[in-house]
Amino acid sequence: MRKTIAISAMMLLSLSVFPAVLAAQQAGKLREPDVIFVPTPQEVVDAMLKLAGVHKGDVVYDLGCGDGRTVVTAAKTYGVRAVGIDINPVRIEEAKENVQKNGVGNLVTLRNEDLFEADIKEASVVTLYLLTSLNIKLRPKLWRELKPGTRVVSHSFDMGDWKPEKSESVNGRMIYLWRIPANAAAQAGQSTGASYGRPGNR
Ligand SMILES: C[S@@+](CC[C@H](N)C(=O)[O-])C[C@H]1O[C@@H](n2cnc3c(N)ncnc32)[C@H](O)[C@@H]1O
Repeated sequence: MRKTIAISAMMLLSLSVFPAVLAAQQAGKLREPDVIFVPTPQEVVDAMLKLAGVHKGDVVYDLGCGDGRTVVTAAKTYGVRAVGIDINPVRIEEAKENVQKNGVGNLVTLRNEDLFEADIKEASVVTLYLLTSLNIKLRPKLWRELKPGTRVVSHSFDMGDWKPEKSESVNGRMIYLWRIPANAAAQAGQSTGASYGRPGNR
């Protein structure tokens, strides 16, 4: 009898707790990605890191890291610390497997976050494969938060009226390099993309 009461009480408890857990999980869920996962071919990843002039001491951030190939390559080839950020938890799981497979867990951090909200200020190199419209939305954040001299490299997509310092074609795919200017933070509010940088205007 006592056993039956105890089991019934546990069932009631789990029925009342389960919806709360589900609601909490849903509340914490990030929004849908701004762009789907399309991987950068490995030779383009290599060329992007080369164009950025990655060297010892750099911290490489890939915003929208997908399966983690860029951060894994940065860690493996240059021995630098790298951070991959992706809004899609499935991509983060794939990236974790990739990091583990390549034995670079000591150098790579993966974060399931919205790149528009993420803390990126420690980056000295930022890599992107998004869209021109997203690059332009992101530009005020890059200018406000990154240190002057930080290199930004993008696969395929430019930054509108922010002209690149260098660009090149890799097997028919364009890659672009910019450097955060000395007075970027002060200028960020006046840049053409500034209104796009506000959360809620995406
Ligand atoms: C075109 S893929 C590029 C993947 C990887 N950087 C590469 O070059 O192979 C874009 C990635 O951005 C992620 N993404 C889209 N919107 C995002 C957001 N707001 N915050 C973080 N990641 C986002 C997607 O989930 C996807 O993995």
